[in-house]
Amino acid sequence: MPLPYSEIVMEHFRHPRNVGRIENPDAKAVEGSPACGDMVAVYLKVDEKTHRIEDVKFESYGCASNIATGSIVTELAKGKTIEEAKQITWKEASDALGGLPPIKTHCSVLAVDSLRAAIQNYEERHGLVAEREPTTVEAVTRRLKHVMNPVVGLDLVRTKLVREVSIADGVVRVVIDLPATHQFANNIREEIEEKVGHLWDVQQVVVQFTE
Ligand code: FES
Repeated sequence: MPLPYSEIVMEHFRHPRNVGRIENPDAKAVEGSPACGDMVAVYLKVDEKTHRIEDVKFESYGCASNIATGSIVTELAKGKTIEEAKQITWKEASDALGGLPPIKTHCSVLAVDSLRAAIQNYEERHGLVAEREPTTVEAVTRRLKHVMNPVVGLDLVRTKLVREVSIADGVVRVVIDLPATHQFANNIREEIEEKVGHLWDVQQVVVQFTE
């Protein structure tokens, strides 16, 4: 039986706004859903002085609900300051879509989490993070839970690809249990560098592969 989608959801699914990527974005994030293994990437262009979001685009590898939420959430975020955009909730996005079936809640959560992760990436890249706790192995591991293993669409930690994490003198070393020649090795390296490299006390991220 088809899911009872509202007209607004169907309209945003058929004609999603702000789809695509921004070259040289001021911030970006890729998030995956542990519930279904789908992924969303969000790119931001932000005015450096006012911190207002001038442009936002998304790429979704998810379902209709996810595409529709990505569309509405980027519409809601455009023109807002990053502080204002941080306040957008999945409930607000879902309400703006005329509601989503409960079984599809995680799809809208994924779209909103991706926007928030991109905003966090902006704040980290621009030194706007207020809490400056020293980076720990646990904190790095938490971030690795947001780096996807594209082979199976689940994160690196859940798929047990992280063999080792260590931190010394601002250098974070991550050992990934894959050969360096693996087709996704470079993607994974870039994602780890993006997720970990902007932490305030991290000077370098070294990603090593096991073969
Ligand atoms: Fe994966 Fe909707 S089922 S995003």
